[in-house]
Amino acid sequence: MDYQAKVAVVTGGAGGIGRGIVHALLTRGAHVVVADVEDAALSAAVDSLSSLGTVRGVKTDVADSESVAALADDVYGTEGRCDLLFANAGVTSGGGGLPWEQEINDWRWCFSVNVFGVAATVLTFLPRMLEAGTAGEIIATSSGDGGVAPVPYASVYASSKAAVSCFIEAVAHQLRTTGAPIGAHVFYPGGGLLDTGLWTAARNRPAKLERVRPRPPAPGTTFPEFKAQLEAAGLPAEVVDLDWLGLKVLEDLDAGRYILGPDAERFAPLLHRRADAIAQGELPPTLLH
Ligand SMILES: NC(=O)c1ccc[n+]([C@@H]2O[C@H](COP(=O)([O-])OP(=O)(O)OC[C@H]3O[C@@H](n4cnc5c(N)ncnc54)[C@H](O)[C@@H]3O)[C@@H](O)[C@H]2O)c1
Repeated sequence: MDYQAKVAVVTGGAGGIGRGIVHALLTRGAHVVVADVEDAALSAAVDSLSSLGTVRGVKTDVADSESVAALADDVYGTEGRCDLLFANAGVTSGGGGLPWEQEINDWRWCFSVNVFGVAATVLTFLPRMLEAGTAGEIIATSSGDGGVAPVPYASVYASSKAAVSCFIEAVAHQLRTTGAPIGAHVFYPGGGLLDTGLWTAARNRPAKLERVRPRPPAPGTTFPEFKAQLEAAGLPAEVVDLDWLGLKVLEDLDAGRYILGPDAERFAPLLHRRADAIAQGELPPTLLH
């Protein structure tokens, strides 16, 4: 793809994986609009990346459909188009644990960003992209956790990402069926350990969606603790270069893949075992098996 003439919108692009995607898009010559809820991170990302190309930030809360509508108005009013839409913003649910110990506000917060946020982003931009009649791509960031198989102690997050994968698959089929010049893709971040702000996602949790019963952070719930645990157990703990991961997304997009990210082949044996279990009416193995 020639990225030079393309306008890309990246939600959650101020940090972590989204910032890596913005970095990659800029190095390939795209014009990028970064949409993020976190003011300081947004300014810092735009300042630090602006030497690579044309990038600007628009403060956006994807959990608020009016905020997403304002983002689209801003992009279509300023850039006049959106060719590449990355629905990437996401959060955890505020810590794992037994599924029945999660609170309804854990569900509300996680789904408001991961599911309703992705839905609002697609529902707001896609009709305008279709109306433009030009080629385009929509990429939603899911997770192997839920998108491929659940991690049982992350039941809420896994459920949200299963919804993202299912929704984007439906969108991709319908776009293909209607012969639209736009493709939809799902992105599974991976390739190793991801040292991102997801570990501190609660920094953006709205006060009205706090837990009723606050719980102290469990051991192993910071990135350094998690990494140290893996190392102590002799397990692979290599940290992924997020700029490399961003480039990998564009490479897979250029290759015409539906599933983007470095781990698709690694998931295959697990998916076969899941299919066999499902066909026999058994409980399928989790992402941890
Ligand atoms: N880190 C991982 O291990 C991992 C693995 C698989 C999938 N993912 C997914 O990758 C995506 C990016 O996460 P990350 O790991 O880079 O975390 P991150 O916290 O570093 O980045 C997420 C970005 O989204 C923004 N954001 C949060 N709530 C928002 C909202 N309501 N509106 C707009 N922006 C909002 C944050 O400010 C942040 O800049 C998420 O969808 C996440 O679920 C992460």
